[in-house]
Amino acid sequence: MRSILVTGAAGFIGSNFVRMLMSRGEDVKLVVLDKLTYAGNIANIQDLIDDEKLFFVKGDICDAALVEQLWTNHAINQVVHFAAESHVDRSILSSGPFVQTNVVGTQVLLDVAKAKGVDRFVHVSTDEVYGSLPEDKPDVKFTEETSLAPNSPYSASKAGSDCLARSYFHTHHLPVMITRCSNNYGPYQFPEKALPLFITNLMEGKKIPLYGDGMNIRDWLYVEDHCDAIWTVLNKGTPGEVYNIGGNNEMTNRKIVETILREMGKTWDDGVQYVKDRPGHDRRYAIDASKIKRELGWEPKHRWEQAIKTTIQWFKDHQDWWRAIKSGEYLKYYDQQYTQR
Ligand code: NAD
Ligand code: TYD
Repeated sequence: MRSILVTGAAGFIGSNFVRMLMSRGEDVKLVVLDKLTYAGNIANIQDLIDDEKLFFVKGDICDAALVEQLWTNHAINQVVHFAAESHVDRSILSSGPFVQTNVVGTQVLLDVAKAKGVDRFVHVSTDEVYGSLPEDKPDVKFTEETSLAPNSPYSASKAGSDCLARSYFHTHHLPVMITRCSNNYGPYQFPEKALPLFITNLMEGKKIPLYGDGMNIRDWLYVEDHCDAIWTVLNKGTPGEVYNIGGNNEMTNRKIVETILREMGKTWDDGVQYVKDRPGHDRRYAIDASKIKRELGWEPKHRWEQAIKTTIQWFKDHQDWWRAIKSGEYLKYYDQQYTQR
């Protein structure tokens, strides 16, 4: 049985990833390392912790001694690295934690992997490292050859970690693969990100705070499809390669908001407030995911029309989960981010 170190699996995508592997009954031991920052939530994986296949450790990926110990104690032979500071708006308020976790933390993992040995290492990255695309050229999309041009402290720190990962393959022959995915949505997403924020605000009788003119474009992928793509890359990918992952599902933020309002029975006037734009707000992201389809046979299985309904229903059914988050530290952040602008 292989022993996989999964970093950041108490967060949104990581928890969906371990949940997917456990429900499929994959023959793996999962060693979860998570610092449980404000975005990490043990409730996301609580029901899996008693399973003998999952071993949870609260700790920091920057702690080299701890990471080494995990390698030794659990005979780690593969890594899926999700752990990161992940929210653009927080990186604008303060970039230090982003450099620390995303750059230094990744360097620590790569160094321990080099020293202790690893069969495969998937570094989970983002399409945001490529920067912004023109909105008047719909045929232009990010390919794996697009130059890195990050515009936010978040994407800059992720680009830094991507460059380190690339260098450890070229210099040390570490079997690293990098995935760059578009925007995810689905269960367990922290309600500071656009979709869960919009959905839960409406459920609380608050308005959706829409940045700028609402015409920024993102490509949206259901989280289970992203998890399946990462599993595909871990098993079939070629070391040293980058794989773009996307939903072929570009939409303006206004279109997203219209869908959510319709599904939740609200009108634009009742439900939306335009607010000051995000500084440096990237205009458009779009992914060319033809390489992963051609070489590894992966493509998304979920369609937006159904998956957004499933997501809204999940937030309706899990009010205890998000109401517990939307208190305390979260309210201070919300006030700083939205009220004081
Ligand atoms: P998230 O913020 O929901 O979860 C991050 C997790 O990492 C949390 O559980 C947190 O406690 C943990 N963590 C943070 N710092 C840590 C540290 N120093 N040591 C150990 N654990 C730490 O993020 P997410 O949305 O699940 O994103 C996961 C990964 O996927 C990130 O690397 C992100 O860049 C990438 N990604 C996200 C999206 C998206 O739409 N959410 C899209 C593409 C790529
Ligand atoms: P977000 O979920 O933060 O992801 P990204 O990393 O792509 O910025 O935001 C998605 C889009 O929604 C992005 O264009 C910014 C916009 N947005 C708002 O209009 N209002 C909000 O309150 C938030 C959080 C995001």
